[in-house]
Amino acid sequence: MAKGKVLLVLYEGGDHAKQVPELFGCLENELGIRKFVEDNGYELVSTSDKDPEPNSKVDKELADAEIVITTPFFPAYITKTRIEKAPKLKIAITAGVGSDHIDLNAANEKKITVAEVTGSNVVSVAEHVLMTILVLIRNFVPAHEQAISGKWDIAGAAKQEFDLEDKVISTVGAGRIGFRVLERLIAFNPKKLYYYDYQELPASAIKQLNDVSKILNGRDDIIERVESLEEMVSKSDVVTINCPLHEKSKGLFNKALISKMKKGSYLVNTARGAICIEDDVAEAVNSGHLAGYGGDVWFPQPAPGTHPWRSMKNPYGGGNAMTPHVSGTSLDAQARYAAGVKDILKEYFDGTHNYRPQDIIVIDGDYSTKAYGQRTKK
Ligand code: NAI
Repeated sequence: MAKGKVLLVLYEGGDHAKQVPELFGCLENELGIRKFVEDNGYELVSTSDKDPEPNSKVDKELADAEIVITTPFFPAYITKTRIEKAPKLKIAITAGVGSDHIDLNAANEKKITVAEVTGSNVVSVAEHVLMTILVLIRNFVPAHEQAISGKWDIAGAAKQEFDLEDKVISTVGAGRIGFRVLERLIAFNPKKLYYYDYQELPASAIKQLNDVSKILNGRDDIIERVESLEEMVSKSDVVTINCPLHEKSKGLFNKALISKMKKGSYLVNTARGAICIEDDVAEAVNSGHLAGYGGDVWFPQPAPGTHPWRSMKNPYGGGNAMTPHVSGTSLDAQARYAAGVKDILKEYFDGTHNYRPQDIIVIDGDYSTKAYGQRTKK
């Protein structure tokens, strides 16, 4: 008789899982935790059948699961109604970073712990942000389409192609990913880097950015904190979103805020799809107010075939740098978050609950992190 049930929700890897055993994050490879879970006396049930609520295998298995593990890339949405139907649930673990797919307030009501593998893929995402900015600003996609279709229309690609040098670039959120994005941008010699975050970057981090800028660009005044989001977006050529999804960031980039963005600027979002209003973004790209939008996050996931971000294009036929949710799931990242999930499980199974503090999002009925909105401690 098992001590309890661990429910693991992952995307299907199919033939890819057979080709590449390091794809830990797919259903077939189960984060490499089956033996570990069973050796600890628990049953492991893994599935990709997560939608729709309430008729999926996830709904059925949650009825007596003690632990649920899911990834942001193919999230099982652990809604309030699902939590209410999961009386034995004690801990929800995110294999990756970003736990907004779990109703955190409902988890707090039931004193369910929510933990993630903080830091596991922050470099992976920062690299994807840099790539997406470059893909957009260099007008890569239309130029690449020409290359593979046999065309040679230099003017057609170059009419919307710019340098990143001397542009104003800003981030909404300057935590682990936002900071790494800023750090990497300095090498491109931007005119200015701005950040908007209710948590100020430490003086040592500002000094580090300015010192690197001094060495690379001869200027030590590269970075500035901005109090007003509207003001920041109105001054920026590129805005990148790097904050979690919570009540205050949901729908933040709506028609009103996007209309404050500079005409012809770019928006990059690898944080969460629901931070942007999908139709407002698509309209801004299609009309040319935004020269482009890119990122890897959508709502819901998987995104329906009709999602407007799949087909939007600026009036020059470019400006779309969307991918499925892949930025935080490079093979390097998968190894790190698979190991991190095991560490969290070990603490749970041992009964020590001595988790890494940075991994805990909510515990004992309250938020442990400061990143999910400004809150007063209970
Ligand atoms: P972090 O916790 O280190 O930093 C988040 C920062 O955002 C904090 O400084 C916080 O104060 C700030 N913030 C929160 N709400 C804000 C708001 N409304 N406006 C401005 N700043 C705000 O988190 P980290 O590691 O940098 O990750 C950030 C988010 O990126 C995750 O929560 C997740 O949603 C997303 N992510 C996406 C991945 C992908 O594969 N696309 C992978 C990893 C994370």
